[in-house]
Amino acid sequence: GLPDRVTIYEVGPRDGLQNESALVPTDVKAEFVRRLLAAGLPIVEATSFVHPKWVPQLADAAELMELLGPAGRDCPVLVPNERGLDRALELGARHIAIFGSATETFAQKNLNRSLDEQFAMFEPTVRRARDAGLDVRAYVSMCFGDPWEGGVPVDQVVAVGKRLFDLGASQLSLGDTIGVGTAGHVTALVQAFGAAGMATDQLAMHFHDTYGQALANTYAALHTGITTYDASAGGLGGCPYAKSATGNLATEDLVWMLRGLGIETGVDLQQVVDTSVWMAGHLGRPSPSAVVRALS
Ligand code: HMG
Ligand code: MG
Repeated sequence: GLPDRVTIYEVGPRDGLQNESALVPTDVKAEFVRRLLAAGLPIVEATSFVHPKWVPQLADAAELMELLGPAGRDCPVLVPNERGLDRALELGARHIAIFGSATETFAQKNLNRSLDEQFAMFEPTVRRARDAGLDVRAYVSMCFGDPWEGGVPVDQVVAVGKRLFDLGASQLSLGDTIGVGTAGHVTALVQAFGAAGMATDQLAMHFHDTYGQALANTYAALHTGITTYDASAGGLGGCPYAKSATGNLATEDLVWMLRGLGIETGVDLQQVVDTSVWMAGHLGRPSPSAVVRALS
């Protein structure tokens, strides 16, 4: 059967805005985060403490955290290394996310490290974060395909994902960074993680809608028992170091489907739509989400 309740992990302010060419003022970002929280999204990833030259869109991470105040400390932030952790700790962050790659090429392009070297960067970062009482999420990118390497073997994804999780994460988010995954592949990947000893409540799915498969993939994952799904308000974003990555699964599309299935999310759909329409005004382009279009 299907779960009664699903947790939506909102990534719009981070994964969404990191890939927009428009520079969004920090106070607009803060308002975006506040509106998403007010719409009932239980987790809103706010920003990244990565190198500002690598992702200039999020160079204002410290200012944003200061503007958000206490509410911001419960918002997860991306941290690639100890320098990023130091910056996040200084601002009182309590939830961080590391982000590994399932492939060699993307590890080089996104982290300036080899596949193996990435673990040496994450290991002390996670250890120090855990010692400081922080919660750590681990992302793994390119779980279904990679723009340079093509198809990525399930065993390779499980090996990298398990290794990242075992550093001390509480959740592993499986990213279809370029949106090439299909439903049968999703089922096979989740089953392979299960065979490697991971429980479905330790996994989250992170789909992109590049090929229009994000909801079908979500539906397949729901049947495997997974109850956490990443989504981005209005379908914003992609990844600046993966050219063929277009929008993340839109939060509105996800909520619409789950509502139809009678699955609780606690999210007010219209409030998210209104927020995405407002943000689209700041970005100067309409949301690619069909649900946003239909409800606005
Ligand atoms: P590097 O150049 O190898 O860094 O970059 P380094 O360790 O050699 O350090 C070089 C200099 O950068 C040093 O300064 C460091 O202090 C500084 P110097 O001593 O020369 O003056 N530095 C930093 N400054 C600020 N904040 C930091 C930081 N780290 C080093 N955190 C690095 C390595 C990992 C930093 C770089 O490659 C980077 O920032 N990469 C991040 C790229 C990124 O954010 N990509 C997008 C997110 S991943 C994603 O989108 C996928 C996901 O969404 C899932 C999906 O969609 O599938 C999660
Ligand atoms: Mg993404």
